[in-house]
Amino acid sequence: MDHSSKLMDEKETIDYVKRFPSLLKYKKKYMIFKREKDYKFMDETDKFAFYERMKCKRDKLSPMEYARKYKMTLKNVRKSRKVAECSLFPTPMALAVLQMFKAKKWLDPTAGWGDRLRASLLANIDTYVGIDSNKSLEKVYKQIQDYYGKDSKTDSYIYISKFQDANIDKHGKFDLVFTSPPFSMLEIYEHMNVVSDKEFQTNFMNKLFELSINKLKINGHLVLYIENIDIDYLTIETASLFPKLKFEGAFYYEGLTKPRPYYVWKKIST
Ligand SMILES: C[S@@+](CC[C@H](N)C(=O)[O-])C[C@H]1O[C@@H](n2cnc3c(N)ncnc32)[C@H](O)[C@@H]1O
Repeated sequence: MDHSSKLMDEKETIDYVKRFPSLLKYKKKYMIFKREKDYKFMDETDKFAFYERMKCKRDKLSPMEYARKYKMTLKNVRKSRKVAECSLFPTPMALAVLQMFKAKKWLDPTAGWGDRLRASLLANIDTYVGIDSNKSLEKVYKQIQDYYGKDSKTDSYIYISKFQDANIDKHGKFDLVFTSPPFSMLEIYEHMNVVSDKEFQTNFMNKLFELSINKLKINGHLVLYIENIDIDYLTIETASLFPKLKFEGAFYYEGLTKPRPYYVWKKIST
């Protein structure tokens, strides 16, 4: 069964753009992927990542800390909706991105809860390399590799490290760098430094662009799902900072409340 997200048709797209007129185009066209409703498929990552995900903070307390403080079960904390949680990445969108860019070799510098590792194994691409600084996720990735890997042709490799420090030279160049970086300090993950928004841009995002230039093949793509970031930095400043990358625009996933942007760059010179 094909679980990848599907594009809106022309009429749906026109109606959606009327609701959200500031959307960018991707290669001169609006592209919006419909919101996925197969929660059973999407939430499957939680079989492995749930416990660690509940430690991630979007509020003063993480769901786990809240449960401990108020002596509640995690199930009841979630039901009460008193505390925001860090969300999974929609695996169907990861599958759609792989199809869109016909990617065979994928670098994911901030691998997150493992939805994208799972997508790589389901899609039978040649190679997935994931990096994440959260040590507690090591066992989660191992379980995902064991569970989905037995029926998959994908070779997957995980590095527990900051992407700035990981040595992945043995993997050579990639045709896709695709990730969901932290949204500045909106979500705080274990083992992650807390910094100002400006520092996030210079110490994190610029390094991510440098890594991508270094690791992409010519004509390879960088795709970032990111929110809470200065759009001029992404669309204008990066063009002058990183001339080897050409900004190609954005496509979107239809979120519950608002469009979720996926920004795209192409590596155009060595
Ligand atoms: C937006 S989150 C991922 C959650 C997200 N919804 C997902 O799974 O795609 C980004 C991830 O980046 C990781 N991270 C933060 N700083 C990092 C760094 N310097 N290098 C690698 N990973 C980092 C965090 O541990 C977190 O798992």
